[in-house]
Amino acid sequence: MNPLIKAWGIKRSFFNGGKKIEVLKGVNLEVYEKEIVAIMGVSGSGKSTLLHILGLMDAPDEGELVFLGFKNPFSLGEKKVASLRNREIGFVFQFPSLLPEFSVLENVLMPAFIGGFKNKEKRAMELLRSVGLKESLFNRRSYMLSEGEKQRVVLARALINKPRLVIADEPTASLDEKTAAEIFDLIKDINRVYGQTFIVASHDRTLLSRCDRSYLLHGSRLYEA
Ligand SMILES: Nc1ncnc2c1ncn2[C@@H]1O[C@H](COP(=O)(O)OP(=O)(O)OP(=O)(O)O)[C@@H](O)[C@H]1O
Ligand SMILES: [Mg+2]
Repeated sequence: MNPLIKAWGIKRSFFNGGKKIEVLKGVNLEVYEKEIVAIMGVSGSGKSTLLHILGLMDAPDEGELVFLGFKNPFSLGEKKVASLRNREIGFVFQFPSLLPEFSVLENVLMPAFIGGFKNKEKRAMELLRSVGLKESLFNRRSYMLSEGEKQRVVLARALINKPRLVIADEPTASLDEKTAAEIFDLIKDINRVYGQTFIVASHDRTLLSRCDRSYLLHGSRLYEA
């Protein structure tokens, strides 16, 4: 089976006050269709840096990336990369980032709107139901929701365009233990029902033990854990 993502020799450095910090020193990884893959590592180890590259938000300095059959997708140019990102990747971050003045439903529809996909209201409502959001909240402005409710909306939004990959960067870190477990259950359900592949960065070992496979970032290198 061909991997959904294959990366090798990925390097990324940043300059901080004239000093070069090598965050990724040659990272290799493969992610297969329908897997939930965890990326572990202490704070500052480079998890977000790696997820930004795998999510086509940031190009590596060196290395090769094959993404859904596209070799070195960054060479396609910003417009094509943006469209690939919009169609094929859903994002979930640590702090639920919704547009506060828009309704819950409008937030879920936003990636469909940006991608020019029409008539997605029914799907948006189905997704909101499947992530367990109360129907009475669908038309409420998103700033009124609790953090747990917002993260459910973010998950629904991540799925609206039926992406093949969902990248979740510490999706449960801002939630209490019970809500975090519920959100992780949802990720497992979505993976089972819709077949989406997930790459999840987290510190939480209990949640990570429920992933199919895990990697550890340590000393700027990635190890199978
Ligand atoms: N745009 C940037 N400019 C300069 N330095 C950066 C940039 N992005 C990340 N870094 C540095 O790279 C290192 C890795 O950061 P990164 O955010 O990837 O870590 P992380 O593992 O996600 O940490 P956390 O668990 O706290 O989210 C840190 O030292 C950080 O300060
Ligand atoms: Mg991070």
